[in-house]
Amino acid sequence: MPRLSAQANLLKLLLEPYLDSIEYEKEVGTALDAGAGPGVLTSFLVKKNPNLKWMACDISEDMVQYCKLVYPKVDWKVSDVRALDYPDNHFDFIFNSMVLIHIKEPEKALKEFYRVLKPGGKILIHCPNDKTFTGPQVLLDMVAKHATIHPADRFVMEKVPSIMEGLGFQLKHRTDFIASNDGNDDKPIVEYPKIHLGMMTGWSMMSFMGHPEGMQELYSQLQSEYMSNRVKFTIKLETHLYQK
Ligand SMILES: C[S@@+](CC[C@H](N)C(=O)[O-])C[C@H]1O[C@@H](n2cnc3c(N)ncnc32)[C@H](O)[C@@H]1O
Repeated sequence: MPRLSAQANLLKLLLEPYLDSIEYEKEVGTALDAGAGPGVLTSFLVKKNPNLKWMACDISEDMVQYCKLVYPKVDWKVSDVRALDYPDNHFDFIFNSMVLIHIKEPEKALKEFYRVLKPGGKILIHCPNDKTFTGPQVLLDMVAKHATIHPADRFVMEKVPSIMEGLGFQLKHRTDFIASNDGNDDKPIVEYPKIHLGMMTGWSMMSFMGHPEGMQELYSQLQSEYMSNRVKFTIKLETHLYQK
């Protein structure tokens, strides 16, 4: 949860100018944060759009229990995005950030988003694509190996536009944010759509790749290279706005 919260606080810096530049439901209606995690972005969205009726869900009971206490104004529910516990044609806006890369059968979630959105409703999908990493070979090797171990598809964003089109969605807007580790650790530099993180912040965002069984060797090699040679990387965070 602390890593997810730190990550969400960085994303807020990019999402702020982005959300101000696109047209999505801002004034009235019902909105869902689908896969809300620690609720940091949910509360940011609520503050930006206080007139919407906000609901949020996550598959993790712990996350939802915590969020209910900390953000009581939001209507929280434990729900799997692949079988959403909400009626048809219910929402004007859905926000789905950093979730699709974690789930098996993501097409089921996209189908559910179509079902629960009202006609004309919009969905913002925001997720990294590990194929867009740039950096030295040792980093690319670790990312590639991690993708083979990860239970879901780390490149899912490549498929999303065609699945969405097949479901009947229209792509209204697309921006690929670019995160790099050539900024400073005190305060990330935002040059929208780029965010320059510090070296250590960049490393902390990748630490999860060292956890799965079989990753330790490549992770240690990269760590030693990273700390001694100031390894530089970039990654795209794809951001798609669709309308039903
Ligand atoms: C990386 S976090 C993103 C949290 C938040 N959306 C953000 O951007 O800060 C991914 C979240 O997706 C949730 N999640 C994973 N699989 C899910 C599923 N099938 N249905 C709903 N939530 C899911 C996880 O529990 C986790 O809280």
